[in-house]
Amino acid sequence: MHGLAADDSDYALSDKDFELIAGIARDQAGIVIRAHKSAMIRGRLMRRLRALQLRSVAEYCDLLRSGDGHKELPSLLNVLTTNHTAFFRERHHLDHLRSDALPETYSRALKHNSRVRIWSSASSTGEEPYSIAAMVHASQPPKALDMRILATDIDTDVLDRAERGEYAREVVERAPADLKPLLLCEPAGQDSVRIGAALKRYLTFKQLNLVIEWPMKGPFDVIFCRNVMIYFDAPTKKSIVDRAADLLRPGGWLYLGHSESLSPPHPAFELIGRTIYRRR
Ligand SMILES: C[S@@+](CC[C@H](N)C(=O)[O-])C[C@H]1O[C@@H](n2cnc3c(N)ncnc32)[C@H](O)[C@@H]1O
Repeated sequence: MHGLAADDSDYALSDKDFELIAGIARDQAGIVIRAHKSAMIRGRLMRRLRALQLRSVAEYCDLLRSGDGHKELPSLLNVLTTNHTAFFRERHHLDHLRSDALPETYSRALKHNSRVRIWSSASSTGEEPYSIAAMVHASQPPKALDMRILATDIDTDVLDRAERGEYAREVVERAPADLKPLLLCEPAGQDSVRIGAALKRYLTFKQLNLVIEWPMKGPFDVIFCRNVMIYFDAPTKKSIVDRAADLLRPGGWLYLGHSESLSPPHPAFELIGRTIYRRR
């Protein structure tokens, strides 16, 4: 690593330093990291050690404890988050969006204020919001509609990548064959492609930490909150679902990740499909 001499013991994460990192993840982002994940966390911290040219995890933790520690927090959170995602992941949600939620939303919006708002609340590197945009575009929204998709994540690195909208060709190749053309990809380099401009125009990307106050007023027609609440403790999950209920218009849809069903059931939501909830 940058010619610095260091042996394995320099990269060790002591119990005390693990508690510091786990405490920051919990307090700043609601993310619960259990002790058996210590080796994984140590691996992730290596990215920060390399970037800062530090020689040991202990030195990095001293920086976090110092007066300048707060400046390092966004970068620390960026390496602590798990960003795994895919185009058209859990496609039954996207199929439901296209076949049921969007047509009903369009008729309602045409009769009312013309606004259609969709929120991808843990958008990672962008595959989820671009998959949503692909379904929106394929459903040919009436031109009179003011159609917007908000994509947010706590991690500024993944948001930058999402906003760029460029992906390794093999990432797009993994999408289901029948849906892939809906991404309207154009060549961007030898091994990369760019998501079509017709989809990008629906999207706004913003940094947002789900565990602090949300600035949006809503109402949203659809909220995707998938594969993020698994990292949170029960009170944090409850607070997010309560606030999603407040932000969704009656009849709006909430899509959760495959292991994030609402248990116990939430009074504001009716389960209408596999991890698909409807605001009462
Ligand atoms: C596993 S990815 C899921 C991406 C996408 N929703 C999907 O299902 O494919 C989880 C995302 O949640 C984000 N995340 C974690 N804690 C967060 C928080 N407190 N506020 C907002 N986003 C958070 C991470 O940065 C990461 O990009």
